[in-house]
Amino acid sequence: MKHLIDTNDLSNKQIDDILADAIKFKKSSPPPLLANKVMLTLFFEDSTRTRSSFEIAGKKLGMSVVHLNPSTSSTKKGETLQDTFENLCAMDPNTIVIRHSQNDIPSQLSALDLTPVINAGAGNYAHPTQAMLDYMTLKEHFGDIKGKTIAIVGDIVTSRVASSATRLLTRMGMNVIFVGPKEFLPPLSFTSDAMPQYESLDKIIENVDAVMSLRVQLERHETPVFKDYESYAKKYCITKDIIKDRDILILHPGPVMRNIDITDELLLDDRCKVLTQVKNGLYVRMAILKNLLLDS
Ligand code: NCD
Repeated sequence: MKHLIDTNDLSNKQIDDILADAIKFKKSSPPPLLANKVMLTLFFEDSTRTRSSFEIAGKKLGMSVVHLNPSTSSTKKGETLQDTFENLCAMDPNTIVIRHSQNDIPSQLSALDLTPVINAGAGNYAHPTQAMLDYMTLKEHFGDIKGKTIAIVGDIVTSRVASSATRLLTRMGMNVIFVGPKEFLPPLSFTSDAMPQYESLDKIIENVDAVMSLRVQLERHETPVFKDYESYAKKYCITKDIIKDRDILILHPGPVMRNIDITDELLLDDRCKVLTQVKNGLYVRMAILKNLLLDS
């Protein structure tokens, strides 16, 4: 049984196969390769893109999709998460896609080996399908990403998008640097190798090929880090003034806080790939479902 908890679970061959399938699926729709299979989505945190993307990916491959909303489920009556999970697995879904605020939940549930578990975002630790769609978007643009440099900008310490992307992109030969206010920069243990860290965009912008802007995840900070969004945006919002006409790719996992993370103007710029990322996310998730449920 194959699970996807972190991109480290994927071999280089699997990553290549997933990317090749995603590119193929983007060109033309595949037949219903996973007809008669059932996907269950279980999201303990809010989601717009990831959940819809998984559900549409499953449907495009012929799967039936069932969503369980934890806020109206028996977890509200005191059932433990493991009991909920075991009961759902007793109904024989072919995979459970789960998002949770705690880093270890998807791996703990996958260890029961009852159904393939796919991590749709866990704590600040891993969001493997987001990392794969970021990788696809960068490769689509650059071809070879080896030796290219990406600056991840913003609230890095709370971000599973940043930690997952850093693990995958450095593995693929990219240089990753972190930019943000001191309070948002992670401790060295955040990723296996320490990434260069900067507090100002001006210092690095000349030397990067891509910028990944992140939302300030205020809901995850116990104490307020800065007075208001404006004071943050003054230093870290990605603007045309900062990017100028440089050939720099702009990424953001969404949800974008307009004019705080990226300006309205730059969101309309061809170099900004936010919606391409969302599109690629669908094809990457289709390819991942095929890889885990059909090829393995
Ligand atoms: C993010 C998440 O939930 O990890 N979004 C996503 O999945 N594309 C990031 C966020 O909420 O800011």
